[in-house]
Amino acid sequence: MKVDVLLGLQWGDEGKGKIVDVLTPEYDYIARFQGGPNAGHTLEFDQKKFVLHTIPSGIFRDNVLNVIGNGVVIDPVVLKIEIEKLIAVGVPVKDRLIFSKKAHLILPSHRLLDAASETAKGKNKIGSTLKGIGPTYMDKTGRNGLRVGDVFEADFKVKYDALVEKHVGILKHFEGFDFNLAELEGPWMEGIEFLREFIAVDSEHYINKALKSGKSVLAEGAQGTMLDIDFGTYPFVTSSNTITAGTCTGLGVPPTKIGKVIGIFKAYCTRVGSGPFPTELLDEVGEKIRQEGREFGSTTGRPRRCGWIDIPQLKYAIMINGVSELSMMKADILSVFDTIRICTHYNVNGTITDEFPFSICDQSIEPIYRDIPGWNCDLTALHSYDNAPLELKQYVSLLEELLEVPITIVSVGPDRSQTLKTKH
Ligand code: GDP
Ligand code: IMO
Ligand code: MG
Repeated sequence: MKVDVLLGLQWGDEGKGKIVDVLTPEYDYIARFQGGPNAGHTLEFDQKKFVLHTIPSGIFRDNVLNVIGNGVVIDPVVLKIEIEKLIAVGVPVKDRLIFSKKAHLILPSHRLLDAASETAKGKNKIGSTLKGIGPTYMDKTGRNGLRVGDVFEADFKVKYDALVEKHVGILKHFEGFDFNLAELEGPWMEGIEFLREFIAVDSEHYINKALKSGKSVLAEGAQGTMLDIDFGTYPFVTSSNTITAGTCTGLGVPPTKIGKVIGIFKAYCTRVGSGPFPTELLDEVGEKIRQEGREFGSTTGRPRRCGWIDIPQLKYAIMINGVSELSMMKADILSVFDTIRICTHYNVNGTITDEFPFSICDQSIEPIYRDIPGWNCDLTALHSYDNAPLELKQYVSLLEELLEVPITIVSVGPDRSQTLKTKH
């Protein structure tokens, strides 16, 4: 068997959690391969709503094992709160969740470093979620990090103290940055105790053996392609590889074992945090999308920036990821518009292109739009794509033509049930 991959094609928050939950019954394993509690994946079913940060979105279904892969970074404090909430509503988390021994730990001092670094950047700040993601990945690549496997070793506290000492040394260089590490350490150590009760494995062996024995695996991405450390809008990105290739390094599966790649995008576009966003709408249309789409961050509550769909950006993401099928999310939000705009090309200093430029941070990009008629009717009660309004079908067909990849799912509401499979 091969690993199917599901990931975001824009700047995150495309609706990955919802679709992973919808597809989970088709899989034996759901595995997160990168990112950490900067993610917020929302699931809605049976009139209930859950936001997951570290736990894979397969956790609510029976007969599925959820894996936190080596590429993920874990904050034991966030993890404990998240798991306790799930246990409180009757989810048997311990039976459904395993950890890679190689996943790295976010220390309280990583969070302080994240805050200090953002403060020092002033108006150039990344707009980080301040969950300690950047500093933790820096320690990973700097070969200083602490990993899940370390918490089971006798010298764990010694290693922890040595890393914290290094961090405190760095923090002292940030002038005027006050911190109280001691008050953060108690809950963190409680989180470590809690983590010790779970199963930690060499997940690369685990997953490869599972594939060999015919089990199916869905890899769940976090963030989105435009936040990828290599191919995103650098430096306004996260610190991990959010793309298909991240599945290989974040789970230990070879490229030859990648199967379907399902790319998720919103019928429009959003971004939270700083950085370029070619189709951003700073007017009442953008505000209307934000209000209709309830576009406020699942992790930080910050208002998301909103704009029209961007074809050069999506084509770029499809190319980088090798996307084989698409899911279009939040079609219902566009029901309020008489006309819907699609950015088909960019005007970059007088050159018309549908290629995403090398760096969009230092250039002025003017989006070129094609207008199409909206469907202007409620989609949220639709149960079949056959009954979808003609204008929605035309929008879907046009996007398929421009993107050259089939759209197999159209989502018309946040609930699990509000998911239309197209005919493909
Ligand atoms: P993720 O990070 O990619 O999992 O996405 P988030 O959960 O951060 O943000 C997506 C938001 O859109 C959540 O509040 C979802 O409940 C909601 N959502 C997902 N699909 C749809 C949809 O088709 N229509 C509407 N109205 N909301 C949706
Ligand atoms: P999900 O998985 C949207 C953004 C932050 C910031 C930048 C760097 O829910 O789609 P970081 O905390 O990683 O240092 O922040 O990346 N960001 C996200 N935006 N969805 C996410 O995750 C995000 N995770 C990080 O807003 O601009
Ligand atoms: Mg999110």
